[in-house]
Amino acid sequence: MSEIGKRATILVVDDEQGVRQSFHMVLKDEFEVLLAETGNQAIDIFTNNTVDVILLDILLPDINGIELLERLKDMDPNTEIIMITAVKDIQTAVKAIKQGAYEYIIKPFNVDEVVTVIRRALEKHTLVKELTYLKGELERVQPFEKMVGNDEKMMKIFDLISTISQSDGTVLVQGESGTGKELVARAIHRRSPRKDRPFVVISCAAIPPTLMESEIFGHTKGAFTGAVHTAMGKLEIAHRGTILLDDIDSLDINMQGKLLRVIQEREFERLGSTKVIRVDVRFIASSNKDLEELINRGEFREDLFYRLNVFPVMVPPLRERKGDIPSLLNHFLELFSKGDNPPKRFSPEAVKVLMKYDWPGNVRELENLVQRLSTLCRGPVIRLRDIPMFTMTRTEIKDMPLREAIKAFEKQYIATILESVNYNRTKAAEILGVHRNTLSAKLYELGIRP
Ligand SMILES: Nc1ncnc2c1ncn2[C@@H]1O[C@H](COP(=O)(O)OP(=O)(O)OP(=O)(O)O)[C@@H](O)[C@H]1O
Ligand SMILES: [Mg+2]
Repeated sequence: MSEIGKRATILVVDDEQGVRQSFHMVLKDEFEVLLAETGNQAIDIFTNNTVDVILLDILLPDINGIELLERLKDMDPNTEIIMITAVKDIQTAVKAIKQGAYEYIIKPFNVDEVVTVIRRALEKHTLVKELTYLKGELERVQPFEKMVGNDEKMMKIFDLISTISQSDGTVLVQGESGTGKELVARAIHRRSPRKDRPFVVISCAAIPPTLMESEIFGHTKGAFTGAVHTAMGKLEIAHRGTILLDDIDSLDINMQGKLLRVIQEREFERLGSTKVIRVDVRFIASSNKDLEELINRGEFREDLFYRLNVFPVMVPPLRERKGDIPSLLNHFLELFSKGDNPPKRFSPEAVKVLMKYDWPGNVRELENLVQRLSTLCRGPVIRLRDIPMFTMTRTEIKDMPLREAIKAFEKQYIATILESVNYNRTKAAEILGVHRNTLSAKLYELGIRP
């Protein structure tokens, strides 16, 4: 599989002879099988052989499984590693996945499951290899339309987007709220051969469960009370294009099963009809919750998770890629400074403070702040005293002269009141308990744009 006509090579690393033997039995008809008893032996074999997939026991006598995983991945990041674990070690297995393992299987294992997982890992392996090759011929590291970032972590995501967009495999984009998951999904679509076809979002959190089925599958006239017309579902609309299952964690368990069938079969029926409709769609799912945790709680189907997680994309929180902050600030300044020519800029001190801040709401929070400051600040430069204090550390606040601090507070306070009354100055003055003229003078003094 790795090269045409040649069988793929699987390395099994487990200290129990029984386990090694049973893997050998199960795999030898389809694959070349190499066996290692210890971590060191595994490294040895790996160094001297071409290995496509490794089955790696988490508990080894000489090297900790996670550590070994990292070392093997370092030696060749393209080798897919499947962890073998006991039920009690699931936590470690989950950690291994985060470190780049392809998947884990639990002892005692089921033969079909093992073979399926290996086949899937090999599929990905072959695909990634082809794509790495193809990618060289595409224009590389070209910044994504409207998606900015130059931190190393983001560059890796851009690379991943390039690779993934050339295939049809399902993608699972995970990351905290506001990190840019939807943007990643759009970028994948835009760069894919499907780019001239629709990109359709199904918002799993926003649509009530009772309407979800018809939203996705469509319905025929009279299928349920209120179905006066036949309507196409989003699956049909997205034919030949891409579907984003946004916030998939919110999808109820019943729908999860129905969706799984579509992802597997690429066919479905409209509600109230028995006619089978076939579609060609690429699925991307997004979630800001830990799906593995939901699986453990029985709220998310494990089989659906594995179907979705063919290409995992983890969008890091903004605090872990602070190098992106200056370019994001500039990007949004440009976006929001409609009348200003040239666009406003931040003073170096302001940027410094904003780079230290942790941005719990990620890019969305930064975007909102820049929008607010662009609207409110009058001058061409947004200074430290314009920046809300919550972004500052205690030391930074302490270092501010009292007068500056009072001004900063006053400014934010007035700005908040103004926003709350839609910039109606009479109302704002009333709430603030000052005369309208006093407010106007204050606005001028503080450099707040009327
Ligand atoms: N790298 C980026 N460059 C430019 N804009 C970005 C970037 N990342 C995020 N944004 C912007 O930040 C906002 C939030 O992004 P997006 O909606 O994709 O986040 P999300 O991860 O889907 O959030 P949620 O989990 O809350 O749905 C959007 O307005 C998006 O355009
Ligand atoms: Mg989103």
